[in-house]
Amino acid sequence: MFNSKITGLGYYVPDNVVTNDDLSKKMDTNDAWIQERTGIKERRHVKKGDGDTTTTMGVKAAKIAIDRSGIDKNDIDFIVFATLSPDYYFPGPGVLVQRDLGIKTVGALDVRNQCSGFVYALSVADQYIKTGMYKNVLVIGSELHSHGLDMTTRGRGVSVIFGDGAGAAIVSREEDTTKGILSTHLHSEGQHAEELSLIAPGMGKRWVNDILVDNDPNDESYFPYMNGQFVFKNAVVRFSEVIIEGLKANNLEAKDIDMLVPHQANLRISQFIQKKFGLSDYQVFNNIMRYGNTTAASIPIALTEAWEMGKIKSGDLVVLAAFGSGFTWGSVIIRW
Ligand code: UT7
Repeated sequence: MFNSKITGLGYYVPDNVVTNDDLSKKMDTNDAWIQERTGIKERRHVKKGDGDTTTTMGVKAAKIAIDRSGIDKNDIDFIVFATLSPDYYFPGPGVLVQRDLGIKTVGALDVRNQCSGFVYALSVADQYIKTGMYKNVLVIGSELHSHGLDMTTRGRGVSVIFGDGAGAAIVSREEDTTKGILSTHLHSEGQHAEELSLIAPGMGKRWVNDILVDNDPNDESYFPYMNGQFVFKNAVVRFSEVIIEGLKANNLEAKDIDMLVPHQANLRISQFIQKKFGLSDYQVFNNIMRYGNTTAASIPIALTEAWEMGKIKSGDLVVLAAFGSGFTWGSVIIRW
């Protein structure tokens, strides 16, 4: 048996900064409301025509992670790509990354677990490495939300929150099983699937043809929907549970955590978790102020920034935790 460890990290965000004031020119919202309820000051949006897509942003993040890991791109044995905003309905972006990186015909898997996507993807990579099947797995979380949001007052409860960006990690074999990813913990509760969802286009209720034929300006089914307060209440409970579950599985306690990198859903959620576990400001990494919620990209972007800032050192206990649409949630316990 082996462990897996993160040997390279990278992120990419588009240059175009969109402030809360910028949004207030498009919809009835304001900087005070957004900051007070979410902590967000600005986010990045891909400018239409700039050429960035979920895949290209993922590739840019991946190139940095590959360089930093010191492996050759052809040493990658497998690709796992997490997103809810793929370039195409099918095929998924995993194969596009294989093509765009110009690497050999390794397997490419697409993960559809929204805000928990990177945690799920990391867990998949970890299992393949633990069993000895692969040595180096490229894990990407990338999202291009901005082109699909309702940028009118009708959509303000969702649209002010989400931003674009990508993060990537190279996960490699570690022979010392006291190091690297110690365990991963995944959960779902499909009972609440529609509480945070994008229903159309889909084969279930409304396919593209229906939308085009109806051409109904009041049709909201192709915009994301979120029952914000319900999601918030579930998030704080599930974040806490899954962090405790991960710590217990490794005979660890909250006081052992050196760095918690939570999914950047809402600064209030992170602050609630910080308080519950008695962690200092330094021990919880937040960047939602600058990027908003980038869903599957949020943890790898935050983890990369924390590492770049020297906040994660060899031997540290690093905890990743996520909650989101599905509902899905999960944690990753890492001895760095
Ligand atoms: O990443 C996946 C997981 N996602 C989450 O964990 C998100 C969880 N939920 C949340 O973060 C919060 O529920 C939100 C930030 C989405 C919303 O905050 P809230 O405090 O729950 O506000 P609310 O939805 O209850 O809305 C309160 C009021 C409403 O007006 P009335 O009915 O009280 O008159 C909304 O219409 O705020 C209004 N509102 C806004 N006002 C200004 C909603 N969105 C906006 C806006 N600007 N952007």
